Amino acid sequence: MFGFFARKGPHRARITTSGDTIEVGAGDNLLKAALNQGLAWPHNCRVGSCGQCRCRLVSGKIKPLNDFSYVLTGEEMDAGMILACQTSLRSDVEIEVALDKPAAALSQPKSVGGVIVRARPLTHDILEVRIRLDEVMPAYLAGQYAELSVPGLIEKPRSYSFASAPENEQFGHVSFFIRHVPDGEMTGWLHTANQEGQRVNVAGPYGSFWLRDSAAPMLCIAGGSGMAPIKALLEQVSSQGFQRQVTYVFGARTRDDLYCLDEMKQIKARGNGHFNFIPVLSREPNDSDWSGLRGHCTDILSPDAFDLPNSHAYLCGPPAMIDSAIECLGRAGVKSEHIFYDKFIDASHMQGGRT
Ligand code: FES
Repeated sequence: MFGFFARKGPHRARITTSGDTIEVGAGDNLLKAALNQGLAWPHNCRVGSCGQCRCRLVSGKIKPLNDFSYVLTGEEMDAGMILACQTSLRSDVEIEVALDKPAAALSQPKSVGGVIVRARPLTHDILEVRIRLDEVMPAYLAGQYAELSVPGLIEKPRSYSFASAPENEQFGHVSFFIRHVPDGEMTGWLHTANQEGQRVNVAGPYGSFWLRDSAAPMLCIAGGSGMAPIKALLEQVSSQGFQRQVTYVFGARTRDDLYCLDEMKQIKARGNGHFNFIPVLSREPNDSDWSGLRGHCTDILSPDAFDLPNSHAYLCGPPAMIDSAIECLGRAGVKSEHIFYDKFIDASHMQGGRT
């Protein structure tokens, strides 16, 4: 007698792979609800760009909040794949997803107020921003990120990776490396005047870019402010005593874009032959006395030089760099499940970007 109307939420999502069940409110997306309820759902951008939250709808009805075909292939969509961050529920559902880590190992995100206590230029366009928090924020893993906003001024949050491993960070503080993006509201605010003393909000931790347990050789590739999460990972490897061979290829335009060189030297000294840092410059003037490598990061990746087929790769930087590195590593025999990345997508491409 009555036509079918999808019942408004909350609905329940049962995760077939783990047996967990979560509740997804009417205004929530599946990823947000999962993270808030402590599930270690793989994710990065949370705005439908990176594809890391992909999962399979086994049964039930969903409402896509965006067109999945920007990220998922036709084959994946035919197989029932969806993006959790772009999905709300129209009924109870069953979902298949490989959760990342025991939920107990991850903190639930929280928003904490704080004060900028340091805004120090690292290069002509990258600033180290250190924030003293009003209260201890949930523990993060090296490689994860937080969202920054400025109360009453820049309410739309921007995402920045923690620049130190938790064990290397001063108690009650967090640090970020923030690159100046032309026309970026947040980075313009930070870079055009010294904002030490200003109040900000820090929400997190977010992201599933962290160190996987393995003794496999580790190849890190980063550019620009992608230094931050890689430095944090390297600090973690270093504090664990370098049980594996680690190579870090850092791409920059010129020598003026290199930074954290002292930190890399310290890690190398502690690495006892297990760590190699290779800066590669793409636009260093030909007549300069730079004796290091020139070109792009991917130009120097040869399978023989890096034992690539047996390596785990950790990539951080702008989408074009990541995409080209993934392609190059795939061709060289690195298994796709051994390539971990954090694409730095700016706010011109997404809600809550890195500008
Ligand atoms: S596409 Fe969903 S987290 Fe990136």
